Amino acid sequence: MALLAKPAANGDRTNLIPFSSRLKEGRALAQDVWSIYNVANLPADCINLGQGYMNFSPPQWVTEAAQTALRDIAPNHYSHPRGRIRLREAIKNFYSPQFNRELDVESEILVTSGANEGQYSVFTAFLEHGDEVIMFEPFFDQYLPSVTFNGGKPVYVPLHPPAHSKEKSTSNDWTIDIDELRRAITPRTKMIIINTPHNPVGKVFTRAELEAIAALAEEFNLLVMSDEVYDCLVFDGKEHVRIANLPGMWDRTVTVGSAGKAFAATGWRVGWLIGPKSIIQPTLAASTRIVFCTNSPLQEAAACGLEQAKERQFFETQLKEYAERRAILTDAFDRLGLKYTLPEGSYFVLLDISDVNFPEDYPFPESVLGRGRDFKACWFIALEIGVSSIPVSEFYCDEHANIGEAFGRFAFCKDVETLKKAAERLQALKKYIK
Ligand SMILES: Cc1ncc(COP(=O)(O)O)c(C=O)c1O
Repeated sequence: MALLAKPAANGDRTNLIPFSSRLKEGRALAQDVWSIYNVANLPADCINLGQGYMNFSPPQWVTEAAQTALRDIAPNHYSHPRGRIRLREAIKNFYSPQFNRELDVESEILVTSGANEGQYSVFTAFLEHGDEVIMFEPFFDQYLPSVTFNGGKPVYVPLHPPAHSKEKSTSNDWTIDIDELRRAITPRTKMIIINTPHNPVGKVFTRAELEAIAALAEEFNLLVMSDEVYDCLVFDGKEHVRIANLPGMWDRTVTVGSAGKAFAATGWRVGWLIGPKSIIQPTLAASTRIVFCTNSPLQEAAACGLEQAKERQFFETQLKEYAERRAILTDAFDRLGLKYTLPEGSYFVLLDISDVNFPEDYPFPESVLGRGRDFKACWFIALEIGVSSIPVSEFYCDEHANIGEAFGRFAFCKDVETLKKAAERLQALKKYIK
């Protein structure tokens, strides 16, 4: 006979139904950095360089395409679970030259509800209980619950930061130790996640690094998820290498993209996966059960974005704008004499906050106490200087959190005026530097 849930003896009815133990894994219940360093918790005039979303609109010609789609009938209804054909065609035309192959809209492209849902669906489609998924630290925090919810076990391999003594470092100075990666592989390893350009380091993996990873993937028959949502943000003429293009790698790689990052529309929740039929088909089966399809009108808008990007030189112009934004922030850090990692890609700067001093008895909230030094430093900077950032230890497992504690992540996906204001405010940090 089934047991009936009973109210507690004291009559408390607030937690009648036990929730799934799944939520206890993957830090899903923990208060995450996004809620601690949220605008709602910080002073109203604090400049938000914490969260990685833009404070400017998508391009007007793209939002106009969204409005046109809303006035039409079909794009207000369900799309094909693979994605709207106009968007799949646009992805094919835009990306085929970059993958050196003619992508097939029926079997090699899947439109997803943001990169995030696409990644989740890949895990659902491929992980058996106990399968291990290797991720480089610092890692995009969503990977963790997405893996554990699907029965996977995260295995962490840290990127090694440049020595603190290094005067000027770039994201290329964050290195992988291939032997360490090899040692992390076990008979249960199913998958490896690569993120290039990288959040939060800004690292653009070199061809040599990707070749070394590819060789291990081949040797141990691993599925490679290559998160390339920042592929349109690679600075200083650095080459963005797609691991899917390395010899033999197409068959074992799924590449992840995001309209949110490409067109400053993170709330639209439109992303895509590109890969061989053998990966896209099972992922489609999972994605269809999870969301059925992605919102239709904004797929039309994303399609318009990709269709017209080349003619409008949109990505070239956008890249120059981001380079200008990056310079405002790095100049501010230079003036302060603080060390940072110059990012070669994405829109984050890691500031080395080891030399920022703050009073130990500062009135830190409960949520920050008991966490790494970076949590306190970022809180202090937000409250005293008026610029928020994100503590980087959040992107590490507990064992390696000390590596991240030296850094705060500052996002520069903000308009020039906001960044200039932040840069001025940051000069007030001078008196707190050791
Ligand atoms: C590395 C990385 N992957 C994936 C995502 C998620 O992208 P989307 O908003 O398209 O789900 C983000 C968003 O911040 C990210 O930084």
